Amino acid sequence: MGFYFNSHTLASFFLLLAFPAFTYGWGIVGHQIICQITQDRLSESAAAAVKELLPAYAKNDLSTLCSWADTIKFRYHWSSELHYIDTPDDLCTYNYNRDCKDEDGVKGRCVSGAITNYTNQLLTYGSSVDESQYNLTEALLFLSHLMGDIHQPLHVGFTSDRGGNTIPVRWFRRKSELHKVWDKDIIETTEDRFYDDVVEEFVDALKQNITGEWSDQVVKWEKCSNNKVACPDVYASESIQTACNWAYKDVENNTVLEDDYFLSRLPIVNLRLAEGGVRLAGTLNRIFK
Ligand SMILES: *[C@@H]1O[C@H](CO)[C@@H](O)[C@H](O)[C@H]1NC(C)=O
Ligand SMILES: *[C@@H]1O[C@H](CO)[C@@H](O)[C@H](O)[C@H]1NC(C)=O
Ligand SMILES: *[C@@H]1O[C@H](CO)[C@@H](O)[C@H](O)[C@H]1NC(C)=O
Ligand SMILES: *[C@@H]1O[C@H](CO)[C@@H](O)[C@H](O)[C@H]1NC(C)=O
Repeated sequence: MGFYFNSHTLASFFLLLAFPAFTYGWGIVGHQIICQITQDRLSESAAAAVKELLPAYAKNDLSTLCSWADTIKFRYHWSSELHYIDTPDDLCTYNYNRDCKDEDGVKGRCVSGAITNYTNQLLTYGSSVDESQYNLTEALLFLSHLMGDIHQPLHVGFTSDRGGNTIPVRWFRRKSELHKVWDKDIIETTEDRFYDDVVEEFVDALKQNITGEWSDQVVKWEKCSNNKVACPDVYASESIQTACNWAYKDVENNTVLEDDYFLSRLPIVNLRLAEGGVRLAGTLNRIFK
């Protein structure tokens, strides 16, 4: 969920220096996985647009910059509230009109509104609209990151616990918070235990299921009804439901989370990473048609 920029900003800043991982939605690796799944699935025209928009130093690898939006939160303070949605405690539902706002109540300022915003900006690519109006490189990097975040179930979480950020838990023997368990801990333990700490092997396993196990569902994941280009509200609703059914379930302050929790939640994390990657590709393919 990241930080809240109020009187605690300075304290938060020092906390960030001490615990740099704290603010990363899905963690760097989660975003990298999603964008690696995406890049392989781009149409010819989308791949060309992505290549042109990426800075040269990215060497046409979108996944190297999929955490850019986290790294600029302190330079672009206004962007930190665009990574998540706070929903009413215990309701387990999301509603755009009710929930998509920032802490000052400004409507549209949430991860769903931001996905629509950056999608609309990218739709001006190659058109006659004044090119200096938007920075489409930034729009691409925001969209690629936020499409990941909206699939992290606890990025659409309860208001009072900030999407699990204020629920202290133990992850095996280490201290953690529930939000961080879903951003990073499950993914890191998976890499360590099943993939020899090689991210590419994890990505390959997900890709294999996308073209195998899950191939029947993939068409449905990609689809966006009513000819819409982006469908973030659907993904946000899925996330809060998943947060209730899996992330928050059976967890209280200081619960010790071990294999029972890890092994039962891992398939959910796998699915959300795969859906995030497939849908980012689907959205970019519709944008750059
Ligand atoms: C839309 O994008 C612009 C440019 O980055 C930004 O200033 C604005 O805050 C964004 N609004 C939302 C809701 O994403
Ligand atoms: C667009 O944004 C990128 C990343 O912040 C920056 O490096 C680049 O200079 C910007 N382009 C323009 C034309 O301002
Ligand atoms: C792929 O699908 C198989 C069969 O359902 C499952 O056992 C495995 O954990 C899945 N792997 C990933 C990375 O999703
Ligand atoms: C759980 O811990 C947090 C942070 O220490 C605290 O703010 C919150 O009140 C606690 N919740 C309960 C139900 O005890």
